[in-house]
Amino acid sequence: MSVIQLDSLTKRYASPRGASAPPTLALDQVSLTVPAGEIFGVIGRSGAGKSTLIRSINLLERPDSGTVRVGDIDLTALSARELQRQRQRIGMVFQHFNLLQSRTVAGNVRFPMELAGGRSAAQMDARVDELLALVGLSEQRDRHPAQLSGGQKQRVGIARALANQPEVLLCDEATSALDPETTEQILTLLGDISRRLRLTILLITHEMHVIHALCDRVAVLERGRIVEQGPVIDVFLHPRHTTTRALLANAGFLLDEGDAPDSGRPVLQLTAIGDAARQPLLETLRDSTGLRVNLLEGRLTRLKGIPVARLRAEVLATDVALRELPARVAALGAEAEWLSPPQDAPQREEACA
Ligand SMILES: Nc1ncnc2c1ncn2[C@@H]1O[C@H](COP(=O)(O)OP(=O)(O)OP(=O)(O)O)[C@@H](O)[C@H]1O
Ligand SMILES: [Mg+2]
Repeated sequence: MSVIQLDSLTKRYASPRGASAPPTLALDQVSLTVPAGEIFGVIGRSGAGKSTLIRSINLLERPDSGTVRVGDIDLTALSARELQRQRQRIGMVFQHFNLLQSRTVAGNVRFPMELAGGRSAAQMDARVDELLALVGLSEQRDRHPAQLSGGQKQRVGIARALANQPEVLLCDEATSALDPETTEQILTLLGDISRRLRLTILLITHEMHVIHALCDRVAVLERGRIVEQGPVIDVFLHPRHTTTRALLANAGFLLDEGDAPDSGRPVLQLTAIGDAARQPLLETLRDSTGLRVNLLEGRLTRLKGIPVARLRAEVLATDVALRELPARVAALGAEAEWLSPPQDAPQREEACA
């Protein structure tokens, strides 16, 4: 079941230079579906349209055309009053927290419940206690925002976003104002919350590591268009679009494919995911195929906690035909791809005899 479904959203902004200048196409027929309970990340460069996209979901920004469905309801078709009510199903977490400085931590978390109505003071207080425990801020309940660290402020922002028990949480660069350690803690908290509350999360970020730490799926936005989307593991390991490749390379996630080594020997890229990444892959291959390699580059990482190992190696010798190697690697639960030469691997057999 999908919880968020965007269909062909388009948004143009008039140029500040007046009607004679062309408008900015901030969203260009964006369609995406976020399945229930998943964490979906949208990544893109500055100006790609990320904020416009996330603000379109609760219609803080009204698209020129297209539809926004949350659950079964098309938000674009609602009256202002009904939209106000439906927005309670959508929580939002902001980059700069947007807390009320005059209210305490508890008062900030209570605020959306007061606006929504329908709860007694005792019910609201009980919910505040529950939420502050959830985000680890019970001790700070009577402090004011000015007395909190950035990470604590964002915990208040998250508790406040959850106050009215939303089905969907939208996060607009929720960790971009935080240092790396605090970022990790907030990402862990968001992951925990999504699991415990079965919450669907859509987040936008310009930081690749947010996607790989937290997300199940990712869409890459470029000039208002989605140029690539899919499960994080597929997009990270087999990026197709140049923008995705550039974003991954900048974040150090792609091996530097560089030039083929002068030796002219074939170059193999090995990728092992999950359990396969914990096995002595090269040693096993050496025993079963006589494979001897020169390691050129390697990387161990985790995608949403799943270990991923990727190696680039020059093949020095094997006892089996080169064209058999990928199947031998696949039999060990890993993946092999020829980087050089990609097509004529079988002809290179003699080169490494
Ligand atoms: N209110 C506005 N009026 C005019 N143009 C706008 C407005 N808001 C955004 N834009 C333009 O729309 C495009 C997309 O902007 P948006 O803020 O969605 O990008 P972004 O991906 O969030 O960028 P960043 O990573 O820098 O926050 C940009 O070209 C921007 O200049
Ligand atoms: Mg933005």
